[in-house]
Amino acid sequence: MCNLEELKQVVLSCSKCPLHPTRNNAVFGNGNSNAEIMLIAEAPGFYEDKSGIVFQGKSGELLDKILAACGFNRNDHVYISNIVKCRPPNNREPNDAEKKACLPYLYEQIEIIDPKIIILLGATALKGLINPNAKITKVRGQWIDWKDRLVMPTYHPSALLRNQNLKRPVWEDFKKVVAKYREMIDPDHYSAHC
Ligand code: URA
Ligand code: SF4
Repeated sequence: MCNLEELKQVVLSCSKCPLHPTRNNAVFGNGNSNAEIMLIAEAPGFYEDKSGIVFQGKSGELLDKILAACGFNRNDHVYISNIVKCRPPNNREPNDAEKKACLPYLYEQIEIIDPKIIILLGATALKGLINPNAKITKVRGQWIDWKDRLVMPTYHPSALLRNQNLKRPVWEDFKKVVAKYREMIDPDHYSAHC
C-alpha cells in the first residue's frame, strides 16, 4: 500500500480508461485524510474537472450547508471522493468499464484514510461500492456493515436540487450520522441543529 499522496500522483496521470483524454483534471479527493467520515459521490462534473477539486458549484454549496448543519466542515471532519476520478463527457453516468477501472483507487483510498463511517451520496456510489442491484430509494437511511465500516446511503445533493421532497429524508439520514459520530468518535460533538 502506498501513501495517499503517492496514490494521488498515480491517479492524476492515470490513463487506464477512456475518460482520460477528455478530462482537464483528474479529481482525486479533498478533505482531511485522517477524517473518520468519508463521503463518496459519483464523478467530477464541469467545475470539478476545471478545478481538480470535488464538489464545486451548486451541489457543492448544498453539501457544505448540510455538513454545516451537522457541525461538520470539509477541512476537518470529512474526506470526499467519487466512484470515478475523471469527468464523463456531458456528465453522463460512468459506465461499467470505467467504474471497474477506477474503483481500485477508491478501495485504496478507503484503506489509507480508514474512516469508521462512509456516506454514499446517490445511486452510483451505492451501486459502485456495495451492490450493483441495490436501490437507493429502498436502502437509504439504513446502516450497512461493510468491511468493518458503517455505511450510510443517502441521496446525492444534485437530486435534492431537483426535488425538494428529498430534503427531509436526507436530513434524517445525516442526523443518524451525527448520532453515530457522537457514539463512536466524539461524544462532545456540537451541532446547532441535531
Ligand atoms: N461533484 C463531485 O465531485 N461529485 C459529484 O458526484 C458531484 C459533484
Ligand atoms: Fe484512470 Fe479513473 Fe480517470 Fe479512468 S476515471 S482515467 S481509471 S483515474
